[in-house]
Amino acid sequence: MKDTLPYRWYTDADVLARERGLLFEHSWQYAGHVGQLADSGSYFTVRVGEIPLVVLRDKEGGLRAFVNVCRHRGAEVVSGEGRCTTLQCHYHAWTYGLDGCLRAAPRSEADPDFDREALGLRPAQVHSWGPFVFVNADADAAPLSETLAELPALVRHRGIDVDELAFHSRYSYSLDANWKVAVENYLECYHCPVAHPWFSDVVDVSPDAYRLDSHPTFASHYAPARNGRSEGQFHLIWPNIKVNVMPGPANLSIGPLLPVDPGRTDGILDYFFAPDADPAWIADYLELDFQVGAEDRVLVESVQRGLRSGAFEHGRLMLPSEELIGEFQRWVSGRLDDQTPSRGIASSQDLE
Ligand code: FES
Ligand SMILES: [Fe+2]
Repeated sequence: MKDTLPYRWYTDADVLARERGLLFEHSWQYAGHVGQLADSGSYFTVRVGEIPLVVLRDKEGGLRAFVNVCRHRGAEVVSGEGRCTTLQCHYHAWTYGLDGCLRAAPRSEADPDFDREALGLRPAQVHSWGPFVFVNADADAAPLSETLAELPALVRHRGIDVDELAFHSRYSYSLDANWKVAVENYLECYHCPVAHPWFSDVVDVSPDAYRLDSHPTFASHYAPARNGRSEGQFHLIWPNIKVNVMPGPANLSIGPLLPVDPGRTDGILDYFFAPDADPAWIADYLELDFQVGAEDRVLVESVQRGLRSGAFEHGRLMLPSEELIGEFQRWVSGRLDDQTPSRGIASSQDLE
């Protein structure tokens, strides 16, 4: 695939609606970290595609996730995060146990046909990799281990024991760009020598040293540190989860890019370090990371204005430096095409 996806796919609300339904609502999504679910009854809410979920720790200490939509008239049962003994809907106080069963519904004794058993919360899937909590809104989706595949081993091989990492902070941001523009920017370092001078001082971004690799469920970059002592790893779990390991002492940041509308994307990055990491080193690390993020914002927002202009139907990838973008585009177009052959999206044949 040498052409990019059609530029219309980056601006069209209809395409985004299908992406939400066909890509996001069936894929494993990073939701948060186990520190948010330390005690029985701890919970937080997330949205996957259009589906609100609540993730919690139950009375037996297990992780559970449910679709956070009340079986009464559809309110989101709980919001934000916190700790509770039951999940009580804020509209008419239908009350669900931490196992999702409906325990009480005010005035239900007056309705002889009321079947409490049939009105529990719908389960979703939740699973953790070290401290990282993933959810899947599709209760029938294949397990998280199939999506992560060799990724945990690759991170371990880099010398990082994810179970030893401590949560440091969450960074939330918003971009005026389509989520795919942000993903594609993440998937190539062709722009690094031009746009990221500081980053390019730290890692060797020359095509001979910087390695790209793709897997069925994720894509990886490997960047040797210029001091020769360490390696950076940058993985993207299809379609939208970043996993970053910078050169140096144990570190990892992870988080999704989440479409808000066709021209706007929210992002979260949760930062983890070794518990005894040097605060001065962390401060330098974050300064570099935020610098790169600020440089990337300028790029992706500029791209979005260019795509939106209507000046061209599509662009042209530079291979092999941008081969992971090609993989991503095949992954996206394959899923949209397979499921909706007649919805007016250009077929993948148009993209060869
Ligand atoms: S919508 Fe939840 S109790 Fe009425
Ligand atoms: Fe970048």
